[in-house]
Amino acid sequence: MADNVVNSRPRVLSGMRPTGKLHLGHYVGALSNWVKLQEKYDCFFFLADWHALTTDYADTSRVKQSCVEIAIDWLAAGLEPNKCTLFIQSHVPQHAELHLLFSMTTPLGWLERVPSYKDQRENIKDKDLSTYGFLGYPLLQAADILIYKGNFVPVGEDQVPHVELTREIARRFNSFYPKTSDSTPSDLVFPEPQPLLTPSPKLPGTDGRKMSKSYGNAILLSDPEAVVRKKLKPMVTDPARVRRTDPGNPDKCPVGSMHKIFSDQQTIKNVYAGCTTAGIGCIECKGWAADAIVKLLAPMQERRAKFEQEPKLAWDILEAGSARAQKTAEATMQEVREAMHLSPEYEKPVPGEDAGIE
Ligand code: TRP
Ligand code: SF4
Repeated sequence: MADNVVNSRPRVLSGMRPTGKLHLGHYVGALSNWVKLQEKYDCFFFLADWHALTTDYADTSRVKQSCVEIAIDWLAAGLEPNKCTLFIQSHVPQHAELHLLFSMTTPLGWLERVPSYKDQRENIKDKDLSTYGFLGYPLLQAADILIYKGNFVPVGEDQVPHVELTREIARRFNSFYPKTSDSTPSDLVFPEPQPLLTPSPKLPGTDGRKMSKSYGNAILLSDPEAVVRKKLKPMVTDPARVRRTDPGNPDKCPVGSMHKIFSDQQTIKNVYAGCTTAGIGCIECKGWAADAIVKLLAPMQERRAKFEQEPKLAWDILEAGSARAQKTAEATMQEVREAMHLSPEYEKPVPGEDAGIE
């Protein structure tokens, strides 16, 4: 939101790790929702570059580049810097200060029982994740959210436990450090944020597994038409439909799933009618799916052109957003420091504290 606009809309906050260009899965699972949210809420969206370091600390050479690539994807998808605040986490160092203060009050057990901690320790074997930062990653996320007093956090299912933890952290802080001695519940430093579950249809990649960059089955938001069509051609289909004359079932076909997400009603009807009667071939059907995706990506391609040509424009938007975010974050930190008796203001000694102790 522009600086001069008084903002009383509820606040939404969410972040993405800068791990490379975004694909259609990111779009249907998060980004398309963010684009809608910016119209109704005071949105802060950021690149969680410190979070990327919790697993990829050994090689940071691509982090900055990745931030720019994703910012271009965001802008192409329709996030508008005059409607929402787009920024880079590490450019708002107040997040780190709040994370440190939270680290003083958070029992280790709270972090050890976060499901993603156990899962990733078991699944990621090629990196040493026995680091302080990796364990503390959900706490950094809590700081990300609370420093903006976020009311809603749009996330996928996997991130809900992190928002739950954030609520516990907020509650603990509020009870230890009331804003004033006669603090009423409405006068607490941190509101408890709610997860905003993004309803995300399961989007298969070209091999039928979940779309993911690491599987090499993804269609990128930046893929030109020819690439989209080329990627869809070998896409797996209903395994029961071996020959052109065999009828198929779009409900058992990843291409069918793509149609349900991207195609219009009439096309979906034609897919069902044609597939179940062997009236159409899979090549034709994939062509229709490609048409729908190309149509979705076309306006994005148009919007991204100027940023591709001049990536510094995207960087400047992130920098302006980071400055805006800093103002809000610093205002919260002033309240936090005050509540914790860490602010630079002089406080008179409280008389009688030591009285009676011999
Ligand atoms: N942890 C999130 C992820 O890996 C990214 C993230 C960091 C985030 N801080 C956040 C999401 C705060 C929502 C709110 O995808
Ligand atoms: Fe899948 Fe379409 Fe082939 Fe049916 S016609 S199996 S929906 S690709």
